[in-house]
Amino acid sequence: MSGNTSQLQVGDKTVDMAIKEGSVGPAVIDIAKLYAQTGMFTYDPGFTSTASCESQITYIDGDKGVLLYRGYPIEQLAEHGDFLETCYLLLEGELPTAAQKADFDYRITRHTMVHEQMARFFQGFRRDAHPMAVMVASIGAMSAFYHDSTDISDPHQRMIASMRMIAKVPTLAAMAYKYTIGQPFVYPLNSLDYTSNFLRMCFAVPAEEYKVNPVLSRALDRIFILHADHEQNASTSTVRLAGSSGANPFACIAAGTACLWGPAHGGANEAALKMLEEIGSVDNIPKYIAKAKDKNDPFRLMGFGHRVYKNYDPRAKIMQKTTHEVLNELGIKDDPLLDVAVELERIALSDEYFIEKKLYPNIDFYSGITLKAMGFPTSMFTVLFAVARTVGWIAQWKEMIEDPSQKIGRPRQLYTGSAQRDYPPIGRR
Ligand code: CMC
Repeated sequence: MSGNTSQLQVGDKTVDMAIKEGSVGPAVIDIAKLYAQTGMFTYDPGFTSTASCESQITYIDGDKGVLLYRGYPIEQLAEHGDFLETCYLLLEGELPTAAQKADFDYRITRHTMVHEQMARFFQGFRRDAHPMAVMVASIGAMSAFYHDSTDISDPHQRMIASMRMIAKVPTLAAMAYKYTIGQPFVYPLNSLDYTSNFLRMCFAVPAEEYKVNPVLSRALDRIFILHADHEQNASTSTVRLAGSSGANPFACIAAGTACLWGPAHGGANEAALKMLEEIGSVDNIPKYIAKAKDKNDPFRLMGFGHRVYKNYDPRAKIMQKTTHEVLNELGIKDDPLLDVAVELERIALSDEYFIEKKLYPNIDFYSGITLKAMGFPTSMFTVLFAVARTVGWIAQWKEMIEDPSQKIGRPRQLYTGSAQRDYPPIGRR
């Protein structure tokens, strides 16, 4: 490495590659011309050493356990701000003034209703469909409804599409929940704040008055802040890749939602709670720890480990506090799942296997207990993650579209299949 370039020796060729510095965090080696100069690609399955883009939105220092949105620590945003303020920050790059916040909140609130035809669309699903399946489809279906905000080259239309998604995804999420339990859809109520409105759409029934519990609303709002963005994770990279072809923005967010569903990503909160239920009691923990450490057993401790955090996930710390606040508020003194979680965390953090591999609890470890206490079934956990992450996906999509050097994402491969061969007639195979 010399100055701000690095050199790579390939056969008898020396290739100079520029080193690009970020504002904080690791620099990158610019390999864009490597193929043209050497005829070789780089190979990095799972992208463990690859920066796929330049971004100014979210910064993670996985070794120190730091998460910043536009430079602001997640702890400060979760403590002092609200979710819509975080949305504004992620989209616009700066915290809003009081007037900007009032205007943004007003505009999001006025977009919360979905087209009435959407209700008919829901009727096509089986009642026992997983709500994430319904989310993938209904978010995708929005691309068939809002034609006046899909010209991605028009900044105004991009802004309206962004607002519609932040405003309408919670409405679709609540509808997905109501549909699976056979209750009528509850329309949004504009006098409520974003998260209180969401709780009401999920838990109110026409037969009685619904009173929002401010402690639960604040806790859920904080959960939304914690999940709002996480730089180039699998679902966000999916949104960027889908969007790089110029695809419809609602369809891009549906693609991100599909990716989030997997248990290695957003599906982990559902899987973590199921695991705690399966463990059942503190006595069974050693058996499960042994399973997690056994190379021949596919079992993993769900809610532990992270591709980027090799330290305590900063979101998990805030989540742990929020869990206790919610359980206190609801008067849940002895929750056996919480006992299992606390003991599992203690044992795992002192176990050589987990220490050596730097496997710490991640955000999903505690969020499931909190959401369950609030009354959400496990199948809704990933849906709530999708509600919160929608803004991150949009902010990243918007940043990509507005980047003048943007082009379609098109990775290459290391081909290990057959070389060219001749087609044999069917009788000779
Ligand atoms: N339990 C037991 N062993 C584990 C676990 C775990 N949860 N996570 C990783 N390991 C081991 C793994 O077996 C491997 O061991 P070895 O080096 O001996 O082969 C080593 O640790 C490294 O694991 P990896 O799979 O190469 O790491 P990764 O960066 O590809 O995977 C992960 C990250 C999050 C997919 C993984 O840690 C995992 O599957 N965790 C459980 C699922 C989970 O909680 N996911 C939520 C992530 S946070 C929310 C989100 O991003 O959506």
